[in-house]
Formats: sequence, structure tokens, C-alpha cells
Amino acid sequence: MSHADLLARHRQVMPSWLGLYYEQPIEIVRGSGCRVTDAEGREYLDFFAGILTNMLGYDVPEVRAAIEAQVATGVLHTSTLYLIGNQVELAEKIAERSGIPDAKVFFTASGSEAIEAALLLCTQYRQSNSILALRNSYHGRSFATMAVTGNRGWSASSLSPVNVSYAQSGYRYRSSFGHLDDAAFIEACSADLREVIDTTTARDVACLIAEPIQGVGGFTVPPDGLLGAYQDILLEQDILYVSDEVQTGWGRTGEHFWGYQAHGVAPDVLTFAKGLGNGLTIAGIVARAEVMDCLSANSISTFGGNPLSTAAGLATLAYLTSHDLQANAHKIGGQLLAGLRDLVDSVPAVGDVRGKGLMIGVELVRPGTKTPDTTAAARVLEATREAGLLIGKGGLYGNVLRIAPPLTLTDADAAQGLQILRTALTDLT
Ligand SMILES: Cc1ncc(COP(=O)(O)O)c(C=O)c1O
Repeated sequence: MSHADLLARHRQVMPSWLGLYYEQPIEIVRGSGCRVTDAEGREYLDFFAGILTNMLGYDVPEVRAAIEAQVATGVLHTSTLYLIGNQVELAEKIAERSGIPDAKVFFTASGSEAIEAALLLCTQYRQSNSILALRNSYHGRSFATMAVTGNRGWSASSLSPVNVSYAQSGYRYRSSFGHLDDAAFIEACSADLREVIDTTTARDVACLIAEPIQGVGGFTVPPDGLLGAYQDILLEQDILYVSDEVQTGWGRTGEHFWGYQAHGVAPDVLTFAKGLGNGLTIAGIVARAEVMDCLSANSISTFGGNPLSTAAGLATLAYLTSHDLQANAHKIGGQLLAGLRDLVDSVPAVGDVRGKGLMIGVELVRPGTKTPDTTAAARVLEATREAGLLIGKGGLYGNVLRIAPPLTLTDADAAQGLQILRTALTDLT
């Protein structure tokens, strides 16, 4: 079936708010390594990995074998009413790596559901529905997660089970404190957090939730230490800290296994999703036992941590560790970043290039201004696809290119993708 035919059927039966990339959207039907093929036979290098989810790339033999072995047992699902060996083993491994003392793990079926669980724990533990979140954040599509999302473009409703106050995100390029050096920037943001707590909250506050690098928000990277400075303030009032690692987890930032580790914070709760199953549905939270066990009613997630997803999760984690993909993200991400940074000076439409590891954002603006240029971002997306490269898009105004390939990206594939990107960006001049 042609893409045009499938698009017509899609438009008929799928919601209008489910955005598709490209003037002529594509269906990806095959994949191997960091390359995919569409339904009309075109091959692409994939630098967005199903929104950072195909963390190891496509058709990884070790992950396929683990999935096939589980399928061969005839048991894809049992429910959490029964013991699940894969689930317990994966929980042990994640707890150990989380950096959270006395950690317990709860598996869910999506990132949104994981954030919901984190908010439930914090609000119950602290007996408060008051939450701090960051401007320009994204935490999911359910009511509570939308409520802590600081981006109008992703907030389809103002209904909320929580009262939310928004602190500075550390998005330096568009911050009113952007001209300050790191130390002064952190001080200004911290003073603002104090003011937000003092002026917009009442009684106890349950938690602050933050992405260490904002994903949907356009891969905005705060100065290292900002979130640690925030936590110093939170600790004065026993406010819990939730690190949303849905995009930053598993070594993607290169320097660290979790994004929070760049900040000297110790999260009370950590949320994960996306890459862990390398495409299979798995997400969850890690929390100190005291916080995790604070619920007084039953709570389950039917599909959370099922035998199939956890088999894939175990194989993915084993592969990630044995191939030291965090180190690869650091090395290859550094090469990509270095290969793009000079465009800030040579291409007037490139306002900012930022990132860590394999999370790189290129913010496009009208030349000579900081006015977001959404049209230029769309043009680059089309041009790169035309040249055989898939990338992502994001940011508050949809003007930030997002580059987040599988963590297995090789030097040769990185060089090829970089060349395509540079050509498409240079063509904006
Ligand atoms: C940081 C962050 N948190 C939560 C979510 C929600 O995850 P899901 O789409 O699996 O519900 C996302 C999804 O992009 C995310 O980027």
C-alpha cells in the first residue's frame, strides 16, 4: 500500500490531534541497526529512534532471542497477581542502578502512567496535592501529567487533580537570566524558586518534578548543579524530588547513567520509560521504600512489567551494559555536537546548538533575532528526510530540531547523518 493511501485511511479513522511528521508521512516497515526502510522501499538513517525508544536500534539479535524465548513459553501475560521472575530480576537490577537507597520498583505500561504513579506517591506521602514543576516541561498525556506539563502545545485541558506552581527550567537560551554565568544563573533561578514557593503555594508542598534535560521542550540543558541547588531549597521544607528520566535515562546523556547525576541531587522518586524495552512496552518508577510503600489502598497496572516486556528489558539492559553504550553516547554525541556547534556562527538561522551525549537540540530562529522559526524547522525536517535521515522536532514553538539516535550509533553512521544535517542547515542561508 502506498503512503498516500494509508494516510487517507489514517485521517479517516485516527484522531486529528495525533500529529504526523512530514508533508507526506511515511510508514516504517523494516529496521536493522540504525537504519530503517519505509513502505515504499526508501532507506533512512534513524536519528530519532521512535522518540528515543529504540535505544539499541533495530533487530538486535540478543533482544530478539529474549523475546522469542519468552514467546516460546506460551506465556505473554499473567498479571501481577502472580510472581513474575523476569519482573523481580529486572526490578533488582534497576533498583541497584538507580542510586536511590532502599529502592523499590513499580512497573507501568507507559511514561504517563509512571509519572501518575510518582505524583500519587508524593501527594499521599506528603498529604498534599501541591506540586512544583518546571516551565517548558513535558510529562505525559493524562490529566495529572498534563497538569505538570509547562507547555501549552501539549496541554489539551486545564482540568487538574493537583495544584501546580512552575519554577524556572534552566532553558538558558530563552531565559531572562540567560546572560548570567552559570553560578549567577543558578543563584537567580534558585531565588526565583524560593519566591514561587513563598508566593504561589499554600501549606505543605508534595514534590518538585523535573526532567534533567527537557525532551519535548527542545533538549534544553540547564547548567550542571541547578537541580542540586533546587533540592537544597526543597530539603528545608521536606519537599520530595522526582527526577523524570523518561528521556535522559540509561546513559543517553553520555556523562552519566541518569540525568540527575549531573546535578548533585538524590531523587526520592525516579521515573523511566521509552528505551528500556527497546520497543516493547515498559515503564515504571523507582522510589525509596518508605515512599513507595505509603499507599493504603491496592494499586495495580495490568500490563505493567509483564513477562514479555521484562524479558526485553533484561536483554536490553544487559546489552547496554556489556557494550558500554553510555561511553558510546558520550563519544559519538561529542562528535555530533562538535560537528554542529560552528553552525551557530555560520548559519544565521541557527540560534543555538546544545545537548549532552546523544540528546542534541538545534534551535532555529529568524536571522538576527531570537524569534522562533517553525517554518525553517519544518523545512530542515523535509530536507533531511529527502536526503535519507530521520530526525525529530520539538521546543515550545516547534522550532527545535531534536537529534537522538540509538545509543549504538557508529562513527560511520554519525558522520553520514552529520553531513546530511549540515547540508540541510547550511541550505537555510
Ligand atoms: C520526559 C517525559 N515524561 C513522560 C513522558 C510520557 O511518556 P508516554 O508517552 O510513554 O506516556 C514523556 C513522553 O515523551 C516524556 O518525554
